[in-house]
Amino acid sequence: MIKRLFFSLCIIFLLNNNNRGVNANSYPDFKYDQNEALQYLIFSYAAYCSGNDIQTWNCTTCQNPQIKDFNIVSSIFNITTNTQAYVGYLSDQVVVSFRGSMDVQSWITNFQFLQTPYEPYPSAKVHQGFYNAWLSVREEVKSAIDISLSRCGSGCGKIMVVGHSLGGALATLCISEVQGWYTIPAYIYNYGSPRVGDVTFASYFNKVQPNTYRVVNQKDIVPHVAPQGLLNYHHVPTEVYFPTNDTQDYRVCNDSGEDPTCSDSVIGLSIYDHLHYFNQHCCCR
Ligand SMILES: *[C@@H]1O[C@H](CO)[C@@H](O)[C@H](O)[C@H]1NC(C)=O
Ligand SMILES: *[C@@H]1O[C@H](CO)[C@@H](O)[C@H](O)[C@H]1NC(C)=O
Ligand SMILES: *[C@@H]1O[C@H](CO)[C@@H](O)[C@H](O)[C@H]1NC(C)=O
Ligand SMILES: *[C@@H]1O[C@H](CO)[C@@H](O)[C@H](O)[C@H]1NC(C)=O
Repeated sequence: MIKRLFFSLCIIFLLNNNNRGVNANSYPDFKYDQNEALQYLIFSYAAYCSGNDIQTWNCTTCQNPQIKDFNIVSSIFNITTNTQAYVGYLSDQVVVSFRGSMDVQSWITNFQFLQTPYEPYPSAKVHQGFYNAWLSVREEVKSAIDISLSRCGSGCGKIMVVGHSLGGALATLCISEVQGWYTIPAYIYNYGSPRVGDVTFASYFNKVQPNTYRVVNQKDIVPHVAPQGLLNYHHVPTEVYFPTNDTQDYRVCNDSGEDPTCSDSVIGLSIYDHLHYFNQHCCCR
């Protein structure tokens, strides 16, 4: 499987020398912050814990000092699409976190590229499986955010949506709608996200949600899925790329979504790098 994927990635890499950017993109209006990014990574990893332990916030990852003061409101699971998320709040913000795939290897092996029109902006296309997964929890996520906002009170100034791996893709689809539901600002940090949709989607997304940091660790294989250019798949900006395991050594990439000097400059085939963002072992532990 790795061999076959490697082969198709090479072909795409060779064919794809036209880095059609997205036009008139914007950067986030806040600076990338490594301490913040670490905290939201832990929130992302906690989504892999069992729903029951998340609901009582006694999962092992939940007890991490970075996130133990979280007030959980709702642990959400759709059995049909096998999609898990949770929603709650800290003193000044609501956090929504999506779980990634429990078995990365077979998830990549069985990866389907099929796209579907994106309802809020139908000329854009997004990955069909990701979109169905998001839609299957959308109503529950919305009511959990409503409850969180009412409990969190007037000090609550933002909504933060996070996720690792497939969870990063779901976070992207989630925030693309969430930013339109409320008047307070929404932000997203995601880690090792696959490409979510086509270049039209990336452009639309950047227009509605420029406050996005998409973190990529070294040669993580997942951000290279689906290959750039295949069905016009294109990453959303703004990538933050870590070329080594030194967590102080990163670059904030340009607003094209596909900065050729960032993770696009390597052929990423590492599952290890996918599971070790900031040297923190994924997932629930
Ligand atoms: C968390 O709480 C649940 C329900 O109270 C319990 O079944 C589970 O064993 C607890 N887990 C841990 C890690 O303490
Ligand atoms: C779970 O997802 C399926 C398929 O999208 C949907 O038909 C069903 O209503 C969802 N269940 C809940 C409880 O939302
Ligand atoms: C980072 O990489 C270096 C060399 O590549 C290795 O010696 C070191 O153990 C790694 N650190 C961690 C925390 O994985
Ligand atoms: C991004 O950076 C690359 C390499 O420096 C450059 O070729 C490309 O035009 C840039 N794209 C945008 C939209 O700035």
